[in-house]
Amino acid sequence: AQYTFRARDLLIERSPVQQPPINLEDLKFGTVFTDHMFHVEHVVGQGWGRPAVKPFGLLQVHPAAQVLHYGLCCFEGMKAYAGVDGRTRLFRPELNMARLRRSARRLQLADFDPQELLACLKQLLMVDRSWLPEREGYSIYVRPFIFSSASALGVAKPARSTISILLSPVGPYFPTGLKPISLFVDELNRRAWPGGVGDCKVGGNYAPTIQPQVEAAQRYGTSQVLYTFRESHEHPDHGEFEECGAMNMFFYMEQRDGRRVLATPALTGTILPGVTRDSVLQLASGWGECEVQERPITIAEVRQASEEGRLLEIFGSGTACIVQPVGSLIRANGEVYRTRFSPDDDPAGSLSSRLQRALLDIQYGRVEHPWGVAL
Ligand code: COI
Repeated sequence: AQYTFRARDLLIERSPVQQPPINLEDLKFGTVFTDHMFHVEHVVGQGWGRPAVKPFGLLQVHPAAQVLHYGLCCFEGMKAYAGVDGRTRLFRPELNMARLRRSARRLQLADFDPQELLACLKQLLMVDRSWLPEREGYSIYVRPFIFSSASALGVAKPARSTISILLSPVGPYFPTGLKPISLFVDELNRRAWPGGVGDCKVGGNYAPTIQPQVEAAQRYGTSQVLYTFRESHEHPDHGEFEECGAMNMFFYMEQRDGRRVLATPALTGTILPGVTRDSVLQLASGWGECEVQERPITIAEVRQASEEGRLLEIFGSGTACIVQPVGSLIRANGEVYRTRFSPDDDPAGSLSSRLQRALLDIQYGRVEHPWGVAL
């Protein structure tokens, strides 16, 4: 059996029906799907079946499928954009394919050639090209995922793996758009830990974040939780900021000597190596207006910067949200750390909005750049 499926074997079965056009105004993130999806299955001992683009529809899984019991699944988030030149563009897609392969390996799901999956994805996008919104801020969110469809209750290497790709036309991730959000600083629940899987995009990283998110929303009105690590009873402020689960985090601060620093937690194993994270680091480094650092960022540092008016901006980065400004951090002890920009300002010149703009320029093809991959 071959270790991978091949895009040249792709079977395209077109949907007999086409859904009516969507209304972009009330599009809720990830709730609308296109007419087609990608599907391929691997069985240990038999190898890969034939990859297919087929009409969007329900998946049939055995009730004992390992994914339903042990969370044996991983996924990616990517976006396809309608370029100003009429061509569909992906953003650094080879990074997502490589990360998906790494996540699948961590769960012992079937291996594949990432270039072949990318070639299949491109064909799927061409079949559903008419779904691509042509409006600024809109795109098709691409959700490749792999799960164990093996029907066996043993906790063991999956005997059957399924890869699928869904396409979902989307606008902004947060219903509030680009207005700064507030985050609850969670000093109790952990998202990841050394030796864990925080640096893989596995479903099991996301399920436990919902309760903290819901409770924080009820208590503090926040839309996301910012995880921390390494604090203790004696030294609560020694805690380090990690990430949000749906976003990596950036802190733009002025030092006491006036120098500006853009800092994000280093990739030490508990942080998802975000594609947007890496892009932000490279762009900001290239601009040279501040020092760019990957290092621990303690609660104490951010508190002090906030108290002294040196906390210029906080923002999250991710495929879904791109660059999302954060106006305040709320702690369980009642402390609130605000950035210098108030949520009512229009910080068009802010670092976060300029990064957002630079990324969108590449993504929509307004700027020719190797990161923008046209189909
Ligand atoms: C993304 O930014 O693509 C994510 O995966 C975040 C979230 C939708 C899970």
